Amino acid sequence: MDRYVSLNKFNTFGLNVTASFYCTITDASEIFELIKESVFKNERKLILGGGSNVLFLDDFYNGLVIHIENKGKTLLRETAHNVYFRVAAGESWSDFVDEMVQCGYGGVENLSFIPGTVGAAPIQNIGAYGTELKDIFYQLTAIDLITGEKVFFNKEECEFGYRTSVFKTRLRDRYLITHVDFKLNKHPEININYAALNQFLYNKGIVNPTVKDISNAVIEIRKSKLPDPSVLGNAGSFFKNPVIHNLLFQNLQQEFPDIIGHKESNDFTKISAAWLIEKTNWKGKRVGNAGFHDKQALVLVNHGNATGRELFHVAMLAKQAVIENFSIELDMEVNIA
Ligand code: EPU
Repeated sequence: MDRYVSLNKFNTFGLNVTASFYCTITDASEIFELIKESVFKNERKLILGGGSNVLFLDDFYNGLVIHIENKGKTLLRETAHNVYFRVAAGESWSDFVDEMVQCGYGGVENLSFIPGTVGAAPIQNIGAYGTELKDIFYQLTAIDLITGEKVFFNKEECEFGYRTSVFKTRLRDRYLITHVDFKLNKHPEININYAALNQFLYNKGIVNPTVKDISNAVIEIRKSKLPDPSVLGNAGSFFKNPVIHNLLFQNLQQEFPDIIGHKESNDFTKISAAWLIEKTNWKGKRVGNAGFHDKQALVLVNHGNATGRELFHVAMLAKQAVIENFSIELDMEVNIA
């Protein structure tokens, strides 16, 4: 257990935050010792993976930060059509995807180049270019931080939704995820339904894409829109795309004919939060060192030494502008600590 540790390198907004207590977990078994310690019992706690989806409001985190860094990937079993891998929570998500793509296994290629760790991926059911983590998820292993029990969660028990799971809602902070098991395809089924991806492949003249082609395309699209956190602090999309009733969407369409929305189900439409932010003139706008990215309006960026509160303030100004203009309330995707 260390004291007064800088989290500057452990959050992608690049905020200068100090944690009063800090420890790393390099092997899942260490958790059983950790939960017996008085610091664990008495302090406020934060479980940190890659720090790519968290905004620290203050420059001091008064509590215990548990940094998950266990490593390892195991092939659990193989059938005629599938491979099952167990991956440690502390592994880099992007490295895992690259490895699967190199092997030609299908299912994760649309999720290339997403920052963060494997253990954090199920918590918010990461998603991109028409695929979500739940599509290749098999089960996960977690430790109950109250009882110390090791528990398995299957797909249903995770209650996955759009950028959410049971670990973000009902069971928030109760479990520490140590491993995630994935089911990948040996005979990949390519998913190029997402318009931007389809268009990109078409422009390149790629007719029958391989998983490698998809992965390369996704990486290139992401690099063109999303800022590199090592250059410009950010945590990807700051808000979720709001899901609204079709009737409300139709009303908005009358007033704003170019509004961007995609049918989510028979009754609901998911509308582009980036479009809403852009239309309220927040795209590329900044207040001091905090602002919204000029290439993707949904990405809140730290242009220099912005504080967590300054970033949050700018986010709330944009949120307020969207309420005033469209009567829609944006929900945060990023976690506040
Ligand atoms: N758009 C704008 N203005 C902008 C950017 C985009 O009007 O500044 C429009 C685009 O023209 C497009 C639509 O908004 O029609 C969607 O844009 P994009 O494809 O960039 O996706 P997004 O909805 O803004 C979501 C995810 C991203 C993911 C991309 C690609 C959420 C909250 N975000 O963004 O995930 O990479 O789709 O699938 O669902 C993340 O979660 O951190 C993240 C980056």
